[in-house]
Amino acid sequence: MRTYLVTGGAGFIGSNYIHYMFKKYGEEIRIINLDKLTYAGNLENLKDVENLPNYTFVKADVCDSEAVNRIFEENDIQRVVHFAAESHVDRSIRNPDVFVKTNVLGTLTMLNAAKAAWELPDGSFRPDHKFLHVSTDEVYGSLEKEGEYFYETTPYDPHSPYSASKASSDFMVKAYIDTYGFPANITNCSNNYGPYQFPEKLIPLMINNALHGKSLPVYGDGKNVRDWLYVEDHCKGIDMVQEKGRLGQTYNIGGHNEKQNIEIVKLIIEIVAEKLPEGDPRKAAVNESLITYVTDRKGHDRRYAIAPDKIKAEVGWYPETMFAEGIRKTIEWYLDHAEWMKNVTSGDYQKYYEEMYKA
Ligand code: NAD
Ligand code: DAU
Repeated sequence: MRTYLVTGGAGFIGSNYIHYMFKKYGEEIRIINLDKLTYAGNLENLKDVENLPNYTFVKADVCDSEAVNRIFEENDIQRVVHFAAESHVDRSIRNPDVFVKTNVLGTLTMLNAAKAAWELPDGSFRPDHKFLHVSTDEVYGSLEKEGEYFYETTPYDPHSPYSASKASSDFMVKAYIDTYGFPANITNCSNNYGPYQFPEKLIPLMINNALHGKSLPVYGDGKNVRDWLYVEDHCKGIDMVQEKGRLGQTYNIGGHNEKQNIEIVKLIIEIVAEKLPEGDPRKAAVNESLITYVTDRKGHDRRYAIAPDKIKAEVGWYPETMFAEGIRKTIEWYLDHAEWMKNVTSGDYQKYYEEMYKA
């Protein structure tokens, strides 16, 4: 039975990945989920797997080398999938320090622990032991010209403290690959959407605000472009890269699905209004009058778009979920999980929201 160490498994993509992996491999695998449970980590996301005999949760910080080393000493970890990170650009603009700690030093701690556990006396590594670092397309910067795409060869040009910290962590993984022959891959993915996403991010924030008749804050002119990918497709891509990708390589993962923010917001309004039942007083209130243009994000990248050619050619992955279908499934999920939303938006979220959107 192969054992996975998943970091950040209580967050948005990590929890979707754990569900995906148990659905795909069932009892063939064991998963240890290491998560600090920051504001973004929520064990409610894993309710339906928490009692599985092949699932273990460990509450720890990826920067805590003692805790991380202990997991490697007590288990034969064959796969590491490293999601844990501070992930929100707006928070990084307000408080960059924690981004450097978790994203850079945390990644270094994970690399050191895996290297110590997997390196053989001759400097080679135990066969079939692999590390996958989950990263972002934001490391490539912003595309200004139409028809341009991010490729694996695009030079890094991060702008926000978040993307700079992710770029630094990618470089550290690359350094371990180049210096020690460390068995790792890096994936750089575009914007994910789907169930369990914390409502500080565009899509769940707009769904939640629309459902509460609150204004929909669009940054700048609303014409910034993101390349949206359904989260389950990302999870599948990570697994395929780890099993079929060439070790040491970087793979970009993207949706081939560029949308302006304002298009997304208008679509959410349309679908939420349609899905609310007749007689629900919110139905009539969900309309475009809720859209409010607010001060732009500082250093706001204009456009991201990935050409997922390498991952398609080498591992056979491509985005499967059409946006029209994925966004409907996502909105339905949030409508069906009002209690989840209520729980994650109580307490600290209110404080964050008021501070962030006060202007
Ligand atoms: P998220 O913020 O929803 O979840 C992050 C998880 O990491 C949480 O469970 C949190 O508790 C945990 N965590 C944070 N700091 C930790 C620490 N010091 N020690 C241990 N655990 C800690 O993030 P997400 O959107 O699921 O993103 C996961 C990964 O994917 C990140 O590395 C992010 O950079 C990358 N990524 C995200 C997207 C996206 O669209 N969300 C796209 C591409 C890449
Ligand atoms: O590209 C991958 C990245 O996508 C990931 O690495 C990040 O972890 C993830 O958070 C995401 O970053 P973005 O900054 O692109 O996502 P966010 O949902 O914060 O914003 C998407 C776009 O919507 C962006 O152009 C800013 C805009 N926006 C966002 C919010 C929260 C608004 O207009 N209003 C808002 O209230």
